[in-house]
Amino acid sequence: MSEPTGTDEAGGPSPAPPPINDVRTPGPVVRARMLSGDVGYAVTRAAEAQHVLCDPAFSSAATFLPRAPAEPREPVGSSRVLFEMDPPEHTRLRRAVAQAFNRRRVEAMGAGIEEVVDGLLDETAAAGPPADLVQTLCAPLPLTDICELLGVPREDRYSFRGWAETIMALRGHSPREIDRARAAIQRYFADLVAARRADPADDLVSELLTARDREERITEAELVRLAITLLIAGHGPTMNQLARSVYALLTRPEMYAALHRDPELVTTAVEELLRTVPSVPVATPRLALRDVEIGGVPIPAGSTVAVSSLAANRDPALFTDPEVTDLGRTENRHLTFGYGPHFCVGAQLARTELRTALAALTRRFPDLRLAVPPEAVRWRTDSLFHGPVELPVTW
Ligand code: HEM
Repeated sequence: MSEPTGTDEAGGPSPAPPPINDVRTPGPVVRARMLSGDVGYAVTRAAEAQHVLCDPAFSSAATFLPRAPAEPREPVGSSRVLFEMDPPEHTRLRRAVAQAFNRRRVEAMGAGIEEVVDGLLDETAAAGPPADLVQTLCAPLPLTDICELLGVPREDRYSFRGWAETIMALRGHSPREIDRARAAIQRYFADLVAARRADPADDLVSELLTARDREERITEAELVRLAITLLIAGHGPTMNQLARSVYALLTRPEMYAALHRDPELVTTAVEELLRTVPSVPVATPRLALRDVEIGGVPIPAGSTVAVSSLAANRDPALFTDPEVTDLGRTENRHLTFGYGPHFCVGAQLARTELRTALAALTRRFPDLRLAVPPEAVRWRTDSLFHGPVELPVTW
């Protein structure tokens, strides 16, 4: 879609719509440029955001059709992943994941996550200072945890990281490289599923196989795709959220010191950092299936509509002093994990990882600081996830 050239109230050319990741003022709805380059609508106020994320008039599935039409042309197919589905297909798969990825399983991972964090921080301490925390902590932690959850042997996790990063990067990799990485992960999980079918273990893939057998409509191919979705969705957002959170704390050293002094603060601090510096600033775009109105703004059928959690998280209707970062904030219904039927499946795991990592980091490295000026840190700008490329620190 080419960009519309409108006029402003004074009759002059209107400014180009801002990139979706930069929209941060609660609106309720503004024109914005999506990562794809298309111009669509950004929903920026909390109430309207929650509405869009629950209303079937806004389809996830239709967004992924080759030339997204106003009405889906085909039933939502089994070749899609959770993000790309609408009910009832979505409901069926989602139920299976929720059953397997339950609270008990995540709680049982708690001690293991602590152990992984401690091991990574031991290695960081032994090799530094300085260190790049993205490499030594933020990237390996979620990857190790998700591999643990899925039952992927640790020795395979470096190959996984390469594949997952290639698939998620929107630029910098040729379509061929992306296809190759997809195929490699696909093959790996097909083998893993076959191995668990022959010899079940206490892991998520084995549990999903049980769900598959209960819910016979889940195919083995869908199960492989679910595992891949969890791997990819469980890695990038958490890695970037941890890195963004540490950067935010180090650029406000009084906040880092407060966490060191009062470790109990970590639970609310993690939520406040999710609210103010979200690694996923925008939920997956939806397609309007009919003409609709959001917050008084008419949206034509076929428009791309994206919820900006970054902006909605600053809505004064929902948050007192929204621009203030208050690590002790208790009322914090941010939208960083989404809302409604597609609400993040891994929210509880991500929270546990973030709390464990920030608590251990502030405890073990009370004098941690950036090793470069804050403005020298490079940021990912071309990805679904927002975060520093490297985080050079010293102590
Ligand atoms: C800080 C870390 C994370 C953030 C900020 C985050 C954010 C989100 C958001 C905004 C959505 C909703 C997207 C939409 O409405 O279209 C979502 C969905 C999802 N997330 Fe997360 N996520 C995080 C960590 C994880 C982890 C650790 C996992 C898995 C291990 C995970 C797995 C998923 C899956 C499978 C979905 C799709 C759910 C569905 O469509 O029903 N996420 N996440």
